[in-house]
Amino acid sequence: MTTPRFITFEGIDGSGKSTQSRRFADHLRAQGQDIVLTREPGGSPGAEEIRQLVLTGDPDRWSAETEVLLFTAARRDHLEKTIEPALAAGKTVISDRFADSTRVYQGATRGDLRNMVGQLHSLMIGREPDLTFIIDMDPATALERGLARKSGEDRFEDFGLPFQETLRHGFLALAHAQPERCILIDGNRTADQIASEIAAYA
Ligand code: ADP
Ligand code: TYD
Repeated sequence: MTTPRFITFEGIDGSGKSTQSRRFADHLRAQGQDIVLTREPGGSPGAEEIRQLVLTGDPDRWSAETEVLLFTAARRDHLEKTIEPALAAGKTVISDRFADSTRVYQGATRGDLRNMVGQLHSLMIGREPDLTFIIDMDPATALERGLARKSGEDRFEDFGLPFQETLRHGFLALAHAQPERCILIDGNRTADQIASEIAAYA
């Protein structure tokens, strides 16, 4: 039996995280591994309810501080109800986004919140993935792909291109700061090319 791993996919909106996390899950399942594919915000019934609160409505619906609390509350529920039970049962967990998204979307875009994000993480979450794929790509192309989906969950995409550029730099800085768990993936390629690079980490 392979050791269960906690694997996350991160990157800006529309960078291909959902596509690649699904493909990697399929790849590992085809090798006989037991996989739980999940996502944030969400991934448990309570966290999916919080997802609706944070991703819909006016961009200024929540203060930055409230938003961090909502994402952290959702993550705590996701961890308790989905991630930890799956790992304890010997399953590998693949999550489309996790704590790095809060570090970058809330922490790195508003410098004054970085400490609060870090402290809340230590207090309430306290664990990192074993492996994180950070998909890097041109924000203009990613934004076009993301908005083309018309999901109705576009509060963050609605902040526009300069915000996506800032996010991209936040993810790149994180990949450089934590090379032991973060693998930087060039997302400006076909989905097949990207999936075959990621498959090497099976
Ligand atoms: P994310 O989860 O990062 O927002 P998705 O995987 O949902 O990204 O991809 C966003 C959109 O772009 C989807 O319509 C998807 O089919 C498409 N897409 C994903 N990867 C690629 C790729 N490598 N090249 C072109 N289009 C892609
Ligand atoms: P997601 O459904 O992954 O959107 P996309 O497919 O467009 O990448 O995530 C929804 C949005 O929530 C996305 O814009 C990023 C944002 N987000 C945060 O701001 N902080 C967080 O901690 C998380 C998990 C997501």
